[in-house]
Amino acid sequence: TISIEEQGLGFCRFNGQIESAHAGFNGAGYVNTENMAGADISWEITSSGGQAEVQFTFANGGAGREANIEINGVNVGSVNFMADTWINWQTVSVNVNLRNGSNSIRLVSTSDQGLANIDAITV
Ligand code: GCU
Repeated sequence: TISIEEQGLGFCRFNGQIESAHAGFNGAGYVNTENMAGADISWEITSSGGQAEVQFTFANGGAGREANIEINGVNVGSVNFMADTWINWQTVSVNVNLRNGSNSIRLVSTSDQGLANIDAITV
């Protein structure tokens, strides 16, 4: 299991800002993406290949938001960020296939409110 924090190894790129306004996150903060469809976060991770569970830690005090998951540039499914409060850090998981070596994981919003606040990805 590799746990990747926003300031850690493997964090790649995001569309928004690092924020620390809402308590309960790990590390220095979490990502608050722009409130628009297409807002995204990408990570680059190394795997030995095969099926893997990808888990996102998030908080969402707005309405439910959805996002697509792209692995190595290919859309492989979606996740739903359930609405609650901005300080209830929840998790959502998706099973994906990774290749041996470097893999990109991209979370891209399909909601016009952007992604939920994202604290961490765990693979
Ligand atoms: C509020 C909240 C942010 C959140 C944003 C949103 O501004 O404080 O943490 O990211 O709403 O709707 O995405």
